[in-house]
Amino acid sequence: MKAPVQHGESEYNLSGKIGGDANLSPRGQQYARQLPDLVAMSAGSRKLTVWTSTLKRTIQTARFLPFEKLEWKALDELDSGVCDGLTYGQIEERYPADFAARDDDKYNYRYLGGESYRDVVIRLEPIIMELERSEDILIVTHQAVLRCIYAYLKNVAQDQSPWMEVPLHTLIKLTPRAYNTDEERFKANIPAVSTWRGETST
Ligand code: G3H
Repeated sequence: MKAPVQHGESEYNLSGKIGGDANLSPRGQQYARQLPDLVAMSAGSRKLTVWTSTLKRTIQTARFLPFEKLEWKALDELDSGVCDGLTYGQIEERYPADFAARDDDKYNYRYLGGESYRDVVIRLEPIIMELERSEDILIVTHQAVLRCIYAYLKNVAQDQSPWMEVPLHTLIKLTPRAYNTDEERFKANIPAVSTWRGETST
């Protein structure tokens, strides 16, 4: 199985800011403590390997998992460049043309000094290659990166991934089969803010 999960709710999530390297919120910490049970529910007694990004919120989320852990820079969140640390409302106010351009073509839009989804897909190539030849991997990563990995594993066109809804505090278990990939979701009973922003709304 390959199981992508987002980090637990972070302090930035609570204030609606994107990017950064924030700590988990109290509910995010609670999720980290519950994650070993959620993983046991989805993986039984399988011995997993845990991949995280190099950012605190994924490392803190994986903290209580009793498995070997590997940090990958390539799993870091999409780099939002000059917009790092801003809310969507602030981005729309300070960079209105960019905000609209991103909504028009979210897959190709590259933040000033940062990345596009297309860039993330390219930097994920080594991760995807390693994932293809590995079994039983739990990937603790970020919303944009998770969308790209999910789209790859589910064979969804990458340019459709940027608007995908991937809720916090939910483990997605993906099991590759001969002609498709089975999916099951395991949701922790811990509320979290929604980080999903629909098109044309802030
Ligand atoms: O940059 C922060 C988010 O995790 C990515 O979300 O691409 O929907 O803005 P977004």
